[in-house]
Amino acid sequence: DSHHSEVTLRVNGKPHTLTVDHRSVLLDVLREDLDLIGAKKGCDHGQCGACTVLVDGRRANSCLLPAVALDGGDITTVEGLSGDGEELHPLQRAFLDRDAFQCGYCTPGQICSALGAVAEAAAGHPSHVTDPAVPSGRPVPLGGDEIRERLSGNLCRCGAYPHIVEAVQDVIS
Ligand code: FES
Ligand code: FES
Repeated sequence: DSHHSEVTLRVNGKPHTLTVDHRSVLLDVLREDLDLIGAKKGCDHGQCGACTVLVDGRRANSCLLPAVALDGGDITTVEGLSGDGEELHPLQRAFLDRDAFQCGYCTPGQICSALGAVAEAAAGHPSHVTDPAVPSGRPVPLGGDEIRERLSGNLCRCGAYPHIVEAVQDVIS
């Protein structure tokens, strides 16, 4: 019918062809249709980052993205970071080692967002706090202020921020 369309999404390396309601957002398709419940629904309004995933390699708030617009897209969720699940991604390991969570609700979003942030800095995208002495287009060094600024869209009600920053520093050092 006119309210549904077929889309093909590549999710964690596997193609899925789904019929989606035009009002459905990626977060709901992941959680309800694909049983990938790592990405969390916090605010549902783009303000907490709990739903962060990678879309074509860039981080995005999946609660804001109509699934129908993502046909052919390549999605990575926290479940896809550990390959076949046998071995944790280094960032997941660092979060464990640094106790970078308490309730864990924000953690999948923090981890996906951090991966996106590290890639953005490596590609030379400056943030509000980037030292103007860094030549444009050159990799931006990720000190604590850079990491905090770049992860400022990911809220943690438990206040695990200092340990989250340490975990990210561990994987880039
Ligand atoms: Fe998407 Fe809060 S649930 S930003
Ligand atoms: Fe509880 Fe971040 S660990 S919200």
